[in-house]
Amino acid sequence: MQPTAPLITIAIDGYSSSGKSSMARQLAKSIGYRYIDSGAMYRAVTLYAMRHGMIDAEGNIDTEALLEALPGIDISFRINGDTQSTTLGGEDVESEIRSMAVSNNVSPVAAIPQVRHALVTMQQAMGQQKGIVMDGRDIGTTVFPHAEMKIFVNASPQTRAQRRLAELIEKGSAVTYEEVLSNVINRDNIDRNRKESPLRQADDAIELDNSTMSIEQQNRWLLDRYNEIIARL
Ligand code: DC
Repeated sequence: MQPTAPLITIAIDGYSSSGKSSMARQLAKSIGYRYIDSGAMYRAVTLYAMRHGMIDAEGNIDTEALLEALPGIDISFRINGDTQSTTLGGEDVESEIRSMAVSNNVSPVAAIPQVRHALVTMQQAMGQQKGIVMDGRDIGTTVFPHAEMKIFVNASPQTRAQRRLAELIEKGSAVTYEEVLSNVINRDNIDRNRKESPLRQADDAIELDNSTMSIEQQNRWLLDRYNEIIARL
């Protein structure tokens, strides 16, 4: 009988629209792990704030009101067969949290230290049993600094904007390449320069630039890294 592989924690960080979520989801499926999209949690908090009038048309956030509401914001994930949806107060908001309106407001919300602390605590609780693949910006540096496998994914802003544009157009959004590129660059800047756990590659993360890789190549590359790490344990 084959010995069962030890359960590990897998942290996949990287820039927005670098394809890390698709890779992370596919890896989790291949190895039977739980997948958590931490960006969806920041997006759900942002949607909550927008719906409750805590973010105005200029993007100013009523931080005090948001922090007061924070303990009552109920974010969860629902699994429907092969797909996973983010829920907010039990409502499926998976599609709404991917809109440009949420994308335009999420980085400043994710820069609020108390928002980060609350979500990091939830994420650490989700990973207590290991056997998890989580993707985000600070998973290998802050959420799971002792993760056995850490990957940092990057691709050029132009490649990432093209990928996000294709996704948005498929969902019926009328956006332009220029709008998406500017959102990608703007979010990179906020994510990299915020005070609280800025986006950076963990010292012990393996880097992947997937600008010229197909989805199949990326998935294969990731599974190979997992097998190497497991073989060393
Ligand atoms: O991965 P994404 O584009 O869905 O992330 C949405 C935003 O949330 C992005 O601006 C960065 C932020 N984020 C973060 O600060 N920390 C994480 N662990 C995940 C996402």
